[in-house]
Amino acid sequence: MMLANKTFLITGIADEHSLAMYTAKEIVKNGGKVVCTGLGVSPYHQNLSDKAKAFLNKNFEDFKTSVKESLGDALVAILDVSIDENIESFAKELSDKNIKLDGFLHAIAMDKTIRKKEVKPLIDVTLNEFCDTMNVSAYSLIRITHHLLNHKVLQDGASICSLSYIAAAKVTFHPYRNISIAKAALERITVELADELGRKNGIRVNAIRFSPYMGSKAGNATLKEEDVNTSNKMSPLGNAVPQDLAFEINHLFRPESRITGEIRHVDGGYHITG
Ligand SMILES: NC(=O)c1ccc[n+]([C@@H]2O[C@H](COP(=O)([O-])OP(=O)(O)OC[C@H]3O[C@@H](n4cnc5c(N)ncnc54)[C@H](O)[C@@H]3O)[C@@H](O)[C@H]2O)c1
Repeated sequence: MMLANKTFLITGIADEHSLAMYTAKEIVKNGGKVVCTGLGVSPYHQNLSDKAKAFLNKNFEDFKTSVKESLGDALVAILDVSIDENIESFAKELSDKNIKLDGFLHAIAMDKTIRKKEVKPLIDVTLNEFCDTMNVSAYSLIRITHHLLNHKVLQDGASICSLSYIAAAKVTFHPYRNISIAKAALERITVELADELGRKNGIRVNAIRFSPYMGSKAGNATLKEEDVNTSNKMSPLGNAVPQDLAFEINHLFRPESRITGEIRHVDGGYHITG
């Protein structure tokens, strides 16, 4: 089995429709183990409103139920990447449990400037909105890696993968504005880390640009049916589906490959058009 005796951290599962869930299931099918994190109320959250607390608690319950149903008794933990202490304590928890990781999937994005499928013009984006999106959707890749390495959880030769979108490079039929800039940063972080960690730890770092997908919570909150139809028509093979992505990430997670610093497309060929 391709991933026998290997363990991967899967971030970004909200429910069974999350892109990260397809990857986690494929890892288990390939003989690997997964540790999953979901957004919830951590001991480090402060001054949460009742509404925010209820949202986070429901998110964590949905996450746990989906993991149980789809992945059995995989280890689950709360991780809010906007709180550095939470990332650190999570890395320490893995270290205390003597868990060693062979890689992880970064499948986290957040942008409050897209509401009810309407995108705020970039010219009106506030500093807080810009920095929050950048922190959660891009910088978190650095901090997760940093704490996992510091606690000696992430092993030499590990493989890291994150999820991006064509809008990091091009203005498409669906301009994303603020989150596009964070995705561009995520891709640049991928390349810089690939150089830094490749030389130091033999760690590979890649990103994948995926087709628009409305099945997930994030996809459903941002995309319109017509967007998905447009890219489906423009892509030579039609839109890629979550299982295509799961296959590709599992391929990048294979031990002993020399693929790194890549920004790949799993998008039915959309990127060659337009
Ligand atoms: N759906 C699409 O069309 C599409 C296309 C290309 C790339 N992507 C990317 O794929 C990734 C996963 O998205 P998805 O479509 O599966 O949606 P999803 O809603 O299932 O996943 C997004 C995840 O981000 C998590 N998250 C948000 N803020 C967080 C925080 N502060 N700390 C920790 N986790 C946090 C959410 O809890 C959720 O699990 C994202 O990076 C997204 O940009 C999605």
